[in-house]
Amino acid sequence: MTERDYRGPDSRRVQEMFAGIAHRYDFLNHFLSVSMDRHWRSLAVRKIETLMRGAPRLCLDVCSGTGDLALALQRGLGCEVVGSDFCHPMLTRANSKIEKRPVRMVEADTLRLPFPDHCFDAVTIAFGLRNLEDPSQGLVEMQRVLRPGGIIVILEFSKPVVPVFKHVFSLYFRHILPHVGALISGDRAAYQYLPDSVRKFPAQRELLSLLLSAGFKNPGYRNLSGGIAALHWAQT
Ligand SMILES: C[S@@+](CC[C@H](N)C(=O)[O-])C[C@H]1O[C@@H](n2cnc3c(N)ncnc32)[C@H](O)[C@@H]1O
Repeated sequence: MTERDYRGPDSRRVQEMFAGIAHRYDFLNHFLSVSMDRHWRSLAVRKIETLMRGAPRLCLDVCSGTGDLALALQRGLGCEVVGSDFCHPMLTRANSKIEKRPVRMVEADTLRLPFPDHCFDAVTIAFGLRNLEDPSQGLVEMQRVLRPGGIIVILEFSKPVVPVFKHVFSLYFRHILPHVGALISGDRAAYQYLPDSVRKFPAQRELLSLLLSAGFKNPGYRNLSGGIAALHWAQT
C-alpha cells in the first residue's frame, strides 16, 4: 500500500476536484473575490510579523495550492518558505511562479506531513482547513511541526457578521458565484462545493475552540471584510 492509499474518499474527491480546476484557479480566485484574496493574504503575512516581533526564519504553508501565500510570505518576510499540497497540478502552477525565490514546494498530505517535529517557526493555511477530511487532526499535525513558541495563522472563509450585508453576500455566494465559477472553470461541482463547505465549517468562535482542543495557546481572530473571511492565530 502506498502513502496515497491511506487517504479517505473525501480527501481523494478534494484532490481530484482541485486537479480539475488548477488551470483556472488563480484567475477565478481573484475574479470572484474582486482581488480581496490578495489583500487578505497580505494581512496574514503581517500578522505573523506582528506576533513574532520580526521575521521568522523558516515558514511552512500547508494546502498551499498554487503558492500565492507561500510567495507572499517569502516576499513580505524575506524568509525561507516550504509550501505543501497533495494536488500535483496545483503544485505545478505554484512552481511556475516561484522563479529563483527560496520557496520549495513539496507534494504532501497535510494530515501526515513529511517533516520532523518542531522544525518551523510559523505555519500558515489559507482556504485549506475547510477542505481537510479531519480539520482537528490537521491542526494537531501543524502543531507537531511547529517549534515551541511557534505561530499558526489560518485564513479561511467564515460567517459574515454585518446584519444586512450578510444576506446580500449570502445571495451572491450561494446563487451567483457557483454559476460564474462553473461557466469559467467548466466544473459546476467545484464551485458548488465552495459555499457548501463554508456553510459546514465552524464559525469564528468555534474555530478558536478547535485551536485550543488541538493544544494551541493564546488563540485570537479578526474578521476580514465583515466576516466573509477571518484570520485566526495561535501559539504552540
Ligand atoms: C482552496 S485551495 C487553497 C490554495 C491556497 N492556499 C490559496 O490560498 O489559494 C485548497 C488547497 O488545499 C489542498 N488540500 C486539501 N486537502 C489537502 C490535504 N489533506 N493535504 C494537502 N493538501 C490538501 C488542495 O489540493 C488545494 O490546493
